[in-house]
Amino acid sequence: MPITVLEPTKQLEGLYTVLRDRETERAQFIFFADRIIRLLVEKGLDMLPVTPKTVITPTGAEYQGVEFQGHICGVSIIRAGESMEQGLRACCRSVRIGKILIQRNEETAKPHLYYEKLPTDIADRYVFLLDPMLATGGSALMAIDVLMKRGVPPERIIFLNLIASPEGLDNFNRLHPKVHIVTGKIDSNLDDKAYIYPGLGDFGDRYYST
Ligand code: PRP
Ligand code: URA
Repeated sequence: MPITVLEPTKQLEGLYTVLRDRETERAQFIFFADRIIRLLVEKGLDMLPVTPKTVITPTGAEYQGVEFQGHICGVSIIRAGESMEQGLRACCRSVRIGKILIQRNEETAKPHLYYEKLPTDIADRYVFLLDPMLATGGSALMAIDVLMKRGVPPERIIFLNLIASPEGLDNFNRLHPKVHIVTGKIDSNLDDKAYIYPGLGDFGDRYYST
């Protein structure tokens, strides 16, 4: 399965330390999460194919560069995934963003699909699937089934998340091994409530303060 983990620099470790700290207040949590999201988006964009492109610089020199190929769109898994939309827009100004509302049952941790609204030409695009937490993988795998039913090939889905669990990655490997995963961290395990451990708690509750 193609999986990319952000390089564990001291900077990145500092950002995650703030997010994981239970004393961190909402404004700080948002600010630091947004910084990591930006890094994930840049890393995801790096997976798009390019073709050679030559330009002339203001000094008159010929520069052999590259140009991105293909159209993209974002799809956020509501609610927590919406926190990642701004980071995608910051890099791709007028990007189309579809929505899939999936919620985990708080007792069973099983996902339930409530709603989807996606770009009509999604089958022709690379899709950045946005959800900060990959715990059991149930929510993201359900979203991928929705995308595939709309004709998106799994190898054109790039799933961006801040923290993944080994159990969730195993489930992806078993069920959708062609989906690209870009994550910031792989944590130790899931706890008995199917929360990522050590994790950062409930991302949506901390980002939206509910
Ligand atoms: C959280 C999170 C993911 C899901 C991850 O959402 O944002 O969507 O749980 O868990 P999983 O990998 O076990 O499916 P939740 O359903 O709690 O809703 P929220 O976005 O409203 O916080
Ligand atoms: N959802 C979260 O927000 N955090 C977890 O650890 C698991 C699911």
